[in-house]
Amino acid sequence: MDMTTRELPSIHGQWSSRWMFILAATGAAVGLGNIWKFPYIAGENGGGAFVLFYLLCIILLGIPIMIAEIMLGRRGRQNPENSMWTVAKESDRSPLWRFVGGLGILAAVFILSYYSVIAGWAMNYIVLALRGLFEGASAQTINQLFDTMVGSPYNLLFWHSLMMVFTIGVVAGGVEKGLERTIRYLFPVMLLLLVMLVFYALDTGYFANGLVFLFAPNFAALSPSGMLTALGHAFFTLSLATGSIMMYGAYVPRHVSIVTASIFIACADTLIALLAGLAIFPIVFAHGLQPEAGPGLIFQTLPLAFGHMPYGHIIGVIFFFMLLFAAFTSAISLLEPPVAWMVERLNISRQWASIIVGFVIWLLGLGSLLSFNLWENVRFMGLNFFELMDYATANVMLPLGGLGIAVFTAWAMRNEFILDELEVPKSVLFKLWKFALACIAPVAITLVFLNVVGILEF
Ligand code: PHE
Repeated sequence: MDMTTRELPSIHGQWSSRWMFILAATGAAVGLGNIWKFPYIAGENGGGAFVLFYLLCIILLGIPIMIAEIMLGRRGRQNPENSMWTVAKESDRSPLWRFVGGLGILAAVFILSYYSVIAGWAMNYIVLALRGLFEGASAQTINQLFDTMVGSPYNLLFWHSLMMVFTIGVVAGGVEKGLERTIRYLFPVMLLLLVMLVFYALDTGYFANGLVFLFAPNFAALSPSGMLTALGHAFFTLSLATGSIMMYGAYVPRHVSIVTASIFIACADTLIALLAGLAIFPIVFAHGLQPEAGPGLIFQTLPLAFGHMPYGHIIGVIFFFMLLFAAFTSAISLLEPPVAWMVERLNISRQWASIIVGFVIWLLGLGSLLSFNLWENVRFMGLNFFELMDYATANVMLPLGGLGIAVFTAWAMRNEFILDELEVPKSVLFKLWKFALACIAPVAITLVFLNVVGILEF
């Protein structure tokens, strides 16, 4: 591909500005992963040491791989599979590298299938908050509300379907008209609300307990599988190895600094996860709840806070709206790669592609929503359908995909193309980045995998 072709946007369009890209990618990164998943997996894995390992993964693997992904996307200017293919060809490498992109697209399909179900919970909670059901409620009542919600397949089906329809609607609209319009404005409001919740948590008298739980490392509490969960979550929370960030990279105009953008996105994302943890754990301890409550954690803790704070009624409604918006901007980024793939591969319209892919994902989501009720006991290797989807993506596909991207960029792609795309000098930082991709990422990911299957014992 020559310079002139690369100056052109992808067939799907292009972000209107550098800020729009940063906002969209931050919107993709910040989502249920930060506010819903991070606190509950930190809770399940003993807090401190898990959080430390997660932060290490973000710095050593997450940021370097994010830079690589955006760069590959912009160089290829197509869906992740084709982008990897194009860039591999350009560097005279095997076309098989495209399967790294393909694996990401498949992971996006799997993730969105259950992501939409959980986003549906947030919608349901907007209604519960509006009805004032949290006001003055005890921990037990709040638990019951949660159990009733997940116990009803029809209820979950309704919200999951609604979420998928909205997501399909936006993606069908395209980059400028659909994606950009929706993503604007939502981010600052969400940040403000989270900070407000942290202030509330400060007031519970249990803030110190929350701090200790989140930041005082107890390495005995971190198991090998906890390490894999932290590693996988670093990819999940930054939307890496799912095609999302590579896809958004394909829409980045030339002369945008990929490095600065990546650092900004990763910092914003991490800050929000930590804020969510700081808001949630003091409430958990103040009410004698269990940090290892699992996927219901924020739905069982935050309503308690809303139920007992001044103006809690309205704050609860706004909060679950924000959670929904955060999930929504991520859901869009999950649907975009398979849709772009289908448009390019089958040459059909974006509208049709959105509907077809969306339908398949909706169907797959039924498995997850049933695993909270009727299929609760249908298990494969001890995991129900939802847990299996989550495990297969976050703990297997994403680390593998991340490994593929790191190895491709460091060992297979020609350096001259990297330098041309990143527009950076061959500095110490550049060498460190390459080292992270060439050595740290492969070694770390392999070690963690081997450790989990029990081949190694640390
Ligand atoms: N990063 C998003 C979150 O934290 C989830 C996501 C994963 C979005 C992968 C896109 C791709 O909620």
